[in-house]
Amino acid sequence: MDTATIAAAKQKVQQRGFLDIDLDPTLDLFAEIERLKKEKNAVVLAHYYQEPDIQDVADYIGDSLGLAQQAEKTTADMIVFAGVHFMAETAKILNPTKKVVIPDLMAGCSLSDSCPPPLFKRFKEEHPDHIVVSYINCSAGIKALSDVIVTSSNARVIVDSFPKDQKIIFAPDKNLGGYINKVTGRDMLLWNGACMVHEIFSLEKITKLKQRHPNAKFIAHPECEEPVLRIADYIGSTTGLLKFTQTDPANEFIVATETGILHQMMKSSPGKTFIPAPPTNSCACNDCPHMKLNSLEKLYLCMEYETPDINMDEELRLAAKKPIDRMLEISAKAGL
Ligand code: 13P
Ligand code: SF4
Repeated sequence: MDTATIAAAKQKVQQRGFLDIDLDPTLDLFAEIERLKKEKNAVVLAHYYQEPDIQDVADYIGDSLGLAQQAEKTTADMIVFAGVHFMAETAKILNPTKKVVIPDLMAGCSLSDSCPPPLFKRFKEEHPDHIVVSYINCSAGIKALSDVIVTSSNARVIVDSFPKDQKIIFAPDKNLGGYINKVTGRDMLLWNGACMVHEIFSLEKITKLKQRHPNAKFIAHPECEEPVLRIADYIGSTTGLLKFTQTDPANEFIVATETGILHQMMKSSPGKTFIPAPPTNSCACNDCPHMKLNSLEKLYLCMEYETPDINMDEELRLAAKKPIDRMLEISAKAGL
C-alpha cells in the first residue's frame, strides 16, 4: 500500500469511522491478523454479536462483563475491540496505558444514544435522594454520573447489594430495569431507553413458533420487552444464554437476542437446533446494525495502522472508572 493512500485514509478516519482503503482481495486476512497479533503483542476481544469470521479470529469472545474483565487484566500492548464504541471506551477507561483500537468508530448503540448526559444530569438532579445504577451500555458521560455500573449478568446481584429502602434510578434500559424491578421486588425509577434490536421481537410470531416447536425452549435477553420475557423459559445475558443451551437437555431453542450469538451456540452444541426469534416484520432487524458495521477487513486495517483508536479526557475517564471499579469488585465477590 503506498504511503500517500494511507495518509489520505488516516486523515478521513474520524469522518468515515474507519480506514477506507481497498485491500487486495487475495490477502489472507486470517493469517495477517495472526501475524499482527504477534508482531504488536495485540489481543482481539470480540462480543458475541460480531460476525462469525471476527469471532473466529478473536482471542476472547464474551458478554459485556467478561469483555470488561478481560480488558482490565490484559498484559497485551494493544487491545483490538471488536464490539461497539461504549465497549472499547470501557476498555480504555479500565486500562488507559494500552492502545485501544476499534474496527469502526461509528459502531454506536441505540441504547447508549437514548441517554444523553446533559438530559440525564437534569433528571438526576430532580431526584437527589436516589443513587444511580447504570447499565454498561452507556457513554462515559453517563458512567461518570453513576454510582455503580451493571451488566445483564450482574445487575440483579448488584441491585440486591443495596438496602431494600434505597431509592434507585436505573438507566438507560427500561426493559432490563423493569425485569430487575420484577425479580428483586424493587421500584427503581427507570430512564426511558431501549435497544432497537431487542424491542422488535414479535410476541405473536414467537407464540406461533412455540406451538410449531413444542419441545423447543424459548430463551431471551433481558433487554427484550416484558411480554416477551414473560413467556421465556430462561432469561439471561449472552453468556448466560449460551451456557443454558450447553447444559439444558433440550435439543431445540428459540433465541430472542441478536443473531451473532447463534454462531457460538451452533459451534458448542452441533447436534442442537437454534431458531432466531422472529421480529415484527420480515427485515433482519435482529441483527444489530452497529455491531455489524465491523468487518474482518476493518479489523485487519485498524490493527495494521493502529487507527481509529480511543482517546479520552483524563478527568472524565477517572470519573467514569469509579462506578465500573465498584461493579467489578461486587462481581468478583459474588464469583461472577
Ligand atoms: P451482554 O452481552 O452483556 O448480554 O449484552 C448484550 C448487548 O446488547 C450488548 O450490546
Ligand atoms: Fe446497543 Fe442493542 Fe446493538 Fe447491543 S444490540 S449494541 S444494546 S443497539
